[in-house]
Amino acid sequence: MHEPFRLYSTEIDRDPFPAYKTLRDDFPCYWSEDAQTWVLTRYKDVQAAAMDWETFSSTQGNLVDEIPGRAGGTLGSIDPPRHDRLRALAQAAFAKKNLEHLAAPAARSAARAVMAVKTRDSFDFVSEVSSVVTVETLFEMLGLAPRDPSEVRAQVVLSVSSDKANKGRNDAQNAAFASLTAYIADEVEKRRKMPADDLITRLAEAEIDGDKLSDREVILTTSMFVVAGVESLSSFMTILAHNLASHPEARRRVANDLSLLPQAIEESLRFNTSAQRFKRVLTRDLTLHGQVMKAGDKVILAYGAANRDERKFPDAEVYDLDRKPRNHLGFGAGKHFCIGNALARLITQTTMTKFLTEIPDFSLATDSFDWVPSSNFRSPVTLPLRRG
Ligand code: HEM
Repeated sequence: MHEPFRLYSTEIDRDPFPAYKTLRDDFPCYWSEDAQTWVLTRYKDVQAAAMDWETFSSTQGNLVDEIPGRAGGTLGSIDPPRHDRLRALAQAAFAKKNLEHLAAPAARSAARAVMAVKTRDSFDFVSEVSSVVTVETLFEMLGLAPRDPSEVRAQVVLSVSSDKANKGRNDAQNAAFASLTAYIADEVEKRRKMPADDLITRLAEAEIDGDKLSDREVILTTSMFVVAGVESLSSFMTILAHNLASHPEARRRVANDLSLLPQAIEESLRFNTSAQRFKRVLTRDLTLHGQVMKAGDKVILAYGAANRDERKFPDAEVYDLDRKPRNHLGFGAGKHFCIGNALARLITQTTMTKFLTEIPDFSLATDSFDWVPSSNFRSPVTLPLRRG
């Protein structure tokens, strides 16, 4: 039979939305032979599964093709009660330094990046704007020495890519993540010897009721801040720029009235966010829409599909600046709701304010560009834009 949804295909990397619609309408609880997993796509089902961590467990990791050695060591790959303690410790480390303090470094970084492209007729938004601001700001927050943003993004993207031929991961992808964690492990070791005023030190020292993070947890949690931060955030900002470039009327309205920017951000998180799909594993048998799923089966929660469900959002396939998309699943739901959501909104808002102020008129320089091969994320490799 022709599979209506083939996870390991360039079509799904580029535009999963037609396949999602078929699944939502005709196969709401779909067994993918190709990926050996169930796929949930309706809003009600995805949200309920995200809330029910006792049935939909994260302990085997939330990446569809999990990185070896990660499961069980960091937030997205553990369940309560350990999850709640680690989350509280990570939250404490985040909260100590008020997020607002990051607005100034993000604004400085955005100003440098935007001014560098402002006078050019065309430029690549990924390597010249979104990666630059994301890597510079997150590295400053974590207390890591500056590194070449394009190199960091390339390493992070490779870490979370999948190999279509293998229907899983390959050695190069595993090596990219191993080299990132080795670098972070060195940095953690340095902070243990000489504490600094940065997030890694706060993670290493955070303590609640005598409980502290183990070295493995500090290293993996920091690595995930780098991976989730750099990949999800730079890709999301790029997708927002793509949405504005391909919806000129919306772009003109936002550029003329920047108070509409938060709405453009929320609608983009709903319409075509970067974080498309995450994995859970069933802890018990469960029947849904007549399908019998077994304990131990993998299930994909397709947040990106749920966000286009007409049953929840009227005219869901329309990018509507005036929509107030309450309870979209762009940051997930339940226990694993994105810990970086406020930070992501802040950095996006700061960067795009500068970008739209300096470059209010822009459009796609080409509509054929590559998308990262990933079973989780929807991420443009480049986004060539032209002024005007
Ligand atoms: C716009 C950018 C971002 C998007 C769209 C996004 C999306 C998401 C989503 C959908 C989840 C839920 C995963 C699941 O259900 O298994 C999640 C979790 C997470 N995100 Fe984000 N994220 C973004 C930015 C960030 C940033 C900037 C950071 C950190 C610096 C971050 C760190 C995390 C972590 C650590 C988790 C796991 C939380 C837990 O399991 O308790 N994210 N993110």
